[in-house]
Amino acid sequence: MSRPTVAVVDLKSLRSNFALAQSLAPGANAIPMVKANAYGHGMIEVSRALAESAPAFGVASIDEALTLRQAGIQQPILLLEGTFSCDEVAIAADNNFMLMVENLVQNDAIVNASISQPIIVWLGIDTGMHRLGFQPKEAIQAYQALKNSDNVAKPIIAASHFACADDMGSSATSAQLAIFDQWIKSQTLASGDIIKQSLANSAAILAWPKTHRDWQRPGYMLYGNSPFSEEQDNADKLIPVMSLQSAVISIRCISSGESVGYTANWTAKRDSTIATITVGYGDGYPRHAPNGTPVLINGVRCPLVGRVSMDMITVDVTDLDLVSIGDKVVLWGPELPVNEIAHHCDTIGYELLTRMPSRVPRIYVN
Ligand SMILES: Cc1ncc(COP(=O)(O)O)c(C=O)c1O
Repeated sequence: MSRPTVAVVDLKSLRSNFALAQSLAPGANAIPMVKANAYGHGMIEVSRALAESAPAFGVASIDEALTLRQAGIQQPILLLEGTFSCDEVAIAADNNFMLMVENLVQNDAIVNASISQPIIVWLGIDTGMHRLGFQPKEAIQAYQALKNSDNVAKPIIAASHFACADDMGSSATSAQLAIFDQWIKSQTLASGDIIKQSLANSAAILAWPKTHRDWQRPGYMLYGNSPFSEEQDNADKLIPVMSLQSAVISIRCISSGESVGYTANWTAKRDSTIATITVGYGDGYPRHAPNGTPVLINGVRCPLVGRVSMDMITVDVTDLDLVSIGDKVVLWGPELPVNEIAHHCDTIGYELLTRMPSRVPRIYVN
């Protein structure tokens, strides 16, 4: 017997979500974003599960890319932040990694490198998010330098990232798109080159068809949760991939007026039955989850009461007809969206999934 706290990862749902991303832009390549341990789901298992249909994978660093190579993944791997030092350029060339180029230091590192084969380069253009990428004017010189370099495979891919694609009411996405399109138009006119393009993250794939270009970069949607806080037709077809599960390990009756847990921050207003579950912030369940956050016990939503401990939480099960030690508990999953838990905790589902620690065994099904 071992601790019943596990993250069940349904690979069939993962494949279905990826197929949705592909079907929304059938003329384009969709690259699964598997950085940050595939948003907590296990980057090797997720990449292997998608390897048959994915043309490439996206990660945040060369270390993540090498982990995939060592696991036998053969596709090109895109480093979304490019290189962090010059020596990484040769490693990228040797391993068929594609490099995002976001600044002049990275640009020079590629152009001046002595490498085994040309590298596929993605030129990052800052169209308004102001986090990474060349300003559109600077991107013209960067593009020329890359184009003239034998170290760079052609065609170059121009890329940008949206700040607000998950907000359908915001004008920011259209404004970023207009800047990007203007840049592509002027460069195409000036050079006659065909420039491949990549813009769309999950929200853009789901809801902004004008942003669908040659390469899509789906992340969060693959894991089956919506990047939107409102309902959205395509996002409603996603199936959550991870189910964080545990079990009841203790049950007690307390009298009205008695408190539960560290700091005694919840006091029973009636005689109550309290179930203790073996999951806590040491398992990635958010410590700041407030009283009332829903927890599924035997399929019924019950309110969290008392502070989340490192290894346990306490739940008010007074209204449950039957509850026993060993009963199944779901903290989030298809029946209880992680976005809903995140909303209670004033964060986003991305964070809850991504910071799931290794202590929670991932159980892969389907
Ligand atoms: C450059 C880039 N592209 C794509 C993605 C995927 O975004 P999402 O998980 O919202 O689909 C990210 C996520 O951080 C990113 O940084």
